[in-house]
Amino acid sequence: MANLKDNNWSSKLGFVLAASGSAVGLGNIWRFPYLVAENGGGTFIFLYFLCSLGIALAILLAEFTLGRMLGQNMFTAFNNKTGRFLLNGMPIVVSTTILSFYFVVCGWIVFYFVQSLTGQISYSTNDSEYYNLIFKSLLASPFILTLCTCIFIFLTIFINYKGVVQGVERTNLFLLPMLFIILIIMILRVLTLEGASEGVKYVFSFDYNYVTSKALMAALGQAFFSLSIGIGTMLIYSSYVKKDYNLKSSATYTVLIGSGIGIFTSLLIIPAVFAFNYDPNSGPGLTFITLPAVFANLKFGFIFAALLFLIMGMAAITSTISLVEAAVPALANLFKLTRKQAILCYAAICVVISTIQGLAFNKFSGFTIFGKNTFDFAGNFSDYLLTFGAFIVCIVVGWILPKAVAINEVTNNGTVPFKLVKVWLFILKYIAPSVIIIIVSNMIFKVL
Ligand code: PHE
Repeated sequence: MANLKDNNWSSKLGFVLAASGSAVGLGNIWRFPYLVAENGGGTFIFLYFLCSLGIALAILLAEFTLGRMLGQNMFTAFNNKTGRFLLNGMPIVVSTTILSFYFVVCGWIVFYFVQSLTGQISYSTNDSEYYNLIFKSLLASPFILTLCTCIFIFLTIFINYKGVVQGVERTNLFLLPMLFIILIIMILRVLTLEGASEGVKYVFSFDYNYVTSKALMAALGQAFFSLSIGIGTMLIYSSYVKKDYNLKSSATYTVLIGSGIGIFTSLLIIPAVFAFNYDPNSGPGLTFITLPAVFANLKFGFIFAALLFLIMGMAAITSTISLVEAAVPALANLFKLTRKQAILCYAAICVVISTIQGLAFNKFSGFTIFGKNTFDFAGNFSDYLLTFGAFIVCIVVGWILPKAVAINEVTNNGTVPFKLVKVWLFILKYIAPSVIIIIVSNMIFKVL
């Protein structure tokens, strides 16, 4: 039976799917395919796997361990005011930074989904210039951007408001399998296209020349973002976990599902783009400009387009609810609110911040921070925040927490076998922090 009072997940599957839902998002469906296309196809997938399994998995497990150990008191761990303020302020700042641009992209998805379904985007021409204009006119229209973004915020908040089990867990239980089924159907259709096999070859190709430090950095950054590491989301989700759940297998499934969906999406998008000789290297515009042109070549292309935007929306909402979930307990604790009051306040914050972000493309386009508009800046800044968060997790579990305590928690007091426990701690203590320091230096170097 669901333990609603304590906000615990009602089942192990519920927890794994919620964590996977947080992982599977725009990072896997929108960003991953264009990173694959830009960084040498299969080579990038290989590097991404290396980073996911070699580093991100260890940090994710550390977050799960820490989250369950601290439980729902994690935000009251400090007695002094400054400590409390920092502890609660961090998740709010981090979630809000990510959501500020994430909700805007979700708004684009709402727009494209509705326009595709209602025939407003006709899919009768395969000239990408037509789709380019649609995208540009969307960005130039503050009202439509705000409206679509607010629709997505409303849907997200509605789920959070219903509660952890009734809202978050149920949504993931339903949406993730659905997403997977639709994805498979679409892949099967695309793979029957003439010329698609070239794209498949590219997705599985390996070329040493693409193993560059730039690709490695992109792979690691993508592994962190797409697995929701370092943000606090996974800490919160695991604070709802019961003591007898196997954290190690939950973390492994989450990584496999998260990275698997990214690879599946690449298998959908890249072969489709290859089959009709478009350029897969169109960066962030791949999904919103190139793909619609690709769909125009298919019979009933508008249905495929609508389905793609539907699965993007499904993936995105399972992530946005997790980001809201990370900010809400902190907000409630900081301002002594109930969960529901905190959710409503946070909804208002999201509306304001995302509206401002939507204006970054039109009314406020002249306003820049470090030469970037606020939308791009929030994207880059969140990379730093999550890397910093991941670093803190490594230090806390690898260096500060007594070894025996960490091992007891991760093995459920010795009842779950964990042969690689020493390797796990070694990665957390030495490898992951060193790699993070190298990436951050590289990121700062690039900024300069
Ligand atoms: N993992 C999500 C994605 O791939 C993004 C996210 C980051 C969600 C951090 C929650 C926390 O889109």
